[in-house]
Amino acid sequence: MKIFLDTANLAQIKEAQSLGLLDGVTTNPSLMAKENIQDAEEYRRRIRQICEWVDGPVSAECVTATSEEMVREGRELSEIHPNVVVKVPLIKNGLIACQRLHEEGIRVNVTLCFTALQAWMAAKAGATFISPFVGRLDDVGEDGMNLIRDIKTIYGNYHFKTEILVASVRHPIHVLEAARIGADVVTLPFDVLEKLMKHPLTDIGQARFLKDWEQRPLKATSKKPAASI
Ligand code: E4P
Repeated sequence: MKIFLDTANLAQIKEAQSLGLLDGVTTNPSLMAKENIQDAEEYRRRIRQICEWVDGPVSAECVTATSEEMVREGRELSEIHPNVVVKVPLIKNGLIACQRLHEEGIRVNVTLCFTALQAWMAAKAGATFISPFVGRLDDVGEDGMNLIRDIKTIYGNYHFKTEILVASVRHPIHVLEAARIGADVVTLPFDVLEKLMKHPLTDIGQARFLKDWEQRPLKATSKKPAASI
């Protein structure tokens, strides 16, 4: 299962990158706004910077509404860098744009997916990635991971190539379940990535190992000090 980082923050991307485990990045307009990105020029500059650091797909989301606008914007975004994957919302206009961009050879991530039938439509429209939002479903009392199971079954039934990119991940259990189901990708907020590497018993065990080694009983040396020979 590939690991993407769900952020537009360069420091977080740099740190995750240093682990050597990062396969890609997803951004969205909210994450860009959080980074104080002011206009389209800065938006594109940030996408370019991320692409130059990350050797893998970098999702850049359209901020337009009609299918024509999304196609135009998608083309422009895709020209920023070969790593760019254009992100469109799972609405009628987004699916039309997805199909057109796909026909032009541009990779598309269809986002804001909340049902398995939406995911099926996106696959038929040629999406490279489908982004089901598990955390937001949990928030409204549904089981987000059931959606991943359903999409996995449907895509398997019809041999769709669209990759399941588990999004809106809130905690390590989402990641564990995604891996059990066989999702293709999880996109993680930085804090969840850090939590994946931690366990209190690991910390206690490591502290004990180091202490025991420090306090090991040393054998009395058989050699006499040079001065007394
Ligand atoms: C990723 O592509 C999504 O935009 C993101 O995971 C949404 O996460 P949120 O529900 O925490 O905003």
